[in-house]
Amino acid sequence: MKPFKNLSISFFYFFVSALIFISLLAYAARFDIKNNCNITIWAAAVPGGGRQINPGGTWSLEVSPNSVQSGNRIWARTECIFNGSGVGKCQTGDCGGLFQCQEYGAVPLTLAEYSLDQFENKDFYDISLVDGFNVPMVFNPTSPECLGIDCTGDLNGNCPTELKAPGGCYSPCTVFKTKEYCCIGADCKATNYSMFLKGGCPGAYSFPKDDATSLYSCHSGSNYNVVFCPLGSL
Ligand SMILES: *[C@@H]1O[C@H](CO)[C@@H](O)[C@H](O)[C@H]1NC(C)=O
Ligand SMILES: *[C@@H]1O[C@H](CO)[C@@H](O)[C@H](O)[C@H]1NC(C)=O
Ligand SMILES: *[C@@H]1O[C@H](CO)[C@@H](O)[C@H](O)[C@H]1NC(C)=O
Repeated sequence: MKPFKNLSISFFYFFVSALIFISLLAYAARFDIKNNCNITIWAAAVPGGGRQINPGGTWSLEVSPNSVQSGNRIWARTECIFNGSGVGKCQTGDCGGLFQCQEYGAVPLTLAEYSLDQFENKDFYDISLVDGFNVPMVFNPTSPECLGIDCTGDLNGNCPTELKAPGGCYSPCTVFKTKEYCCIGADCKATNYSMFLKGGCPGAYSFPKDDATSLYSCHSGSNYNVVFCPLGSL
């Protein structure tokens, strides 16, 4: 009897592990993050960490359902230098000097934001310029029935002088810190600066309450593509 009992216990553990594994696979979303820029990008993701992506390279990032389901973001870091312990600095998007990001990046940066499997089993996703702009991007679900978001305008080259930053373009809130530009209080609406940002990236959030034209949803289970510099050079 004894060997038989042990066998059924190991079957039981096998069965449970297989169930856990299958449930992870069923809901994990894959983000293929491609660097189409002609410079190296240090991609960053919370959750996910970071990866150096040479021109033409891709980082396939699996986000499991066990990770945080909302407030997730992916962005590009530029002009980074790290030492052998993964400590250093980036000109844009720096996350506390770590190669493997655990916290959000420093402004200015173009953000791909998403929340997986929210109410009605939907994913919600957007590109945000609320923290400024560093690298153009597209953010596309792989499910053909869900809409992709383009942020391909040259917001660095066209950045108003007063918003210019090394390697990027600040948001007006970062520079002027006024209620109007930071959308504090009831009167949160588009401004001349947010309209400039929106002009380069029509699908992106250009100010905090820009939801009507900027928040997208897709049934959960889709995968996603993030492409930095979709049109080629930065
Ligand atoms: C990397 O830099 C950090 C911070 O300056 C330092 O603590 C660490 O020892 C350095 N690691 C290497 C391998 O140089
Ligand atoms: C936006 O409006 C402010 C205040 O009227 C003005 O100083 C600024 O030059 C304008 N900026 C742009 C980009 O139009
Ligand atoms: C990338 O492309 C831009 C625009 O065409 C060009 O000015 C720049 O020199 C290129 N950089 C590299 C590293 O090839």
